[in-house]
Amino acid sequence: MIAVDVRQLRKTYRVFRKREGLWASIKGLFRREYQAVHAVAGVSFQIEQGEMVAFLGPNGAGKTTTLKLLSGLIYPTSGEATVLGYVPWKRDIAYRRRFALVMGQKNQLWWDLPAQESFRLHKEIYRIEPADFDRRLDELTGLLEVRKLVGQPVRELSLGERMRMELIAALLHRPDVLLLDEPTIGLDVVSQRKVQDFLKFYQAEQRLTVLLTSHYMKDVQALCQRAIIINEGEIKHDGSLAQVVDRFSKFKVIELQFSGETRPAGLERFGEVFDDNFPRAKLRVPRNQVPEILSALLTAYSLEDVGVHDRPIEEAIAEMFTSTRTISSETVTVAT
Ligand SMILES: Nc1ncnc2c1ncn2[C@@H]1O[C@H](COP(=O)(O)OP(=O)(O)OP(=O)(O)O)[C@@H](O)[C@H]1O
Ligand SMILES: [Mg+2]
Repeated sequence: MIAVDVRQLRKTYRVFRKREGLWASIKGLFRREYQAVHAVAGVSFQIEQGEMVAFLGPNGAGKTTTLKLLSGLIYPTSGEATVLGYVPWKRDIAYRRRFALVMGQKNQLWWDLPAQESFRLHKEIYRIEPADFDRRLDELTGLLEVRKLVGQPVRELSLGERMRMELIAALLHRPDVLLLDEPTIGLDVVSQRKVQDFLKFYQAEQRLTVLLTSHYMKDVQALCQRAIIINEGEIKHDGSLAQVVDRFSKFKVIELQFSGETRPAGLERFGEVFDDNFPRAKLRVPRNQVPEILSALLTAYSLEDVGVHDRPIEEAIAEMFTSTRTISSETVTVAT
């Protein structure tokens, strides 16, 4: 069964364009110029019930806008979408009970109150049966290892702990569809891992339908088989994540910190130097040559520190689609 059905969805923002110079500003008093930003430029995709799909793309690609449309927070300019048969922007109460949106960048809990107070509020809003509420809260706080922290004011929690509380708040009413916008942003590796493990387990157990955006390849690889890639508001890939990963992981990044006084020469022999900031430097090298290159580097230079990393997913995706967003300009006259 199809849970999320999106057809030719489009969201165009009109943004006021400031003109430079006094004369232009005066003219601007009478005639305001707007630019059209095609945040989502006609996307279509379907997600099966129980599927967990990664929604990837560089900054400004249209990911958050799409999730906001699917949550009914904003209206589309045109196009259609249904989630579990509901049109999100009709804001049906019944729909509100069936989905949840978690934004890593936004705080939905009361800052000065303990998380449990926010949870109680959710219980009222969503009319969760007391017995269900207690059981779910117990299960979720257990799985996410925050049982002892629910009584502490949210502002005193670490980012990772707070994020886990946000997830609990989102899941207490047992939504069928979960929209996750960068749920692990800014978290340390351990917290990231905890959130991943939880999502993996919980999604499978509850057969949740999940659309997940993340800039961390690790999240995505741990959780999703399918990836939809969006750029400039348009879908560029919809299919196996493995294919994307293959392209993505052809290269790794070796990060060096030199211990000498001056930048040693000849670094270019070992790979593509893309961040040259003595005493640090970063090299892009083919994945299968990492061991040889690493040992050659250790022989050639005296190093304070070395690290090998995956490239940020953004970089790899941006490379797949190197064109820049084209902003069409339109002049709209507004009486002032
Ligand atoms: N309220 C708004 N008014 C005007 N333009 C907007 C608004 N919201 C988003 N945009 C623009 O729409 C485009 C898509 O933004 P969106 O937030 O969906 O990107 P994103 O893929 O979530 O990026 P990121 O990875 O940085 O979170 C961007 O160019 C952004 O500047
Ligand atoms: Mg975003």
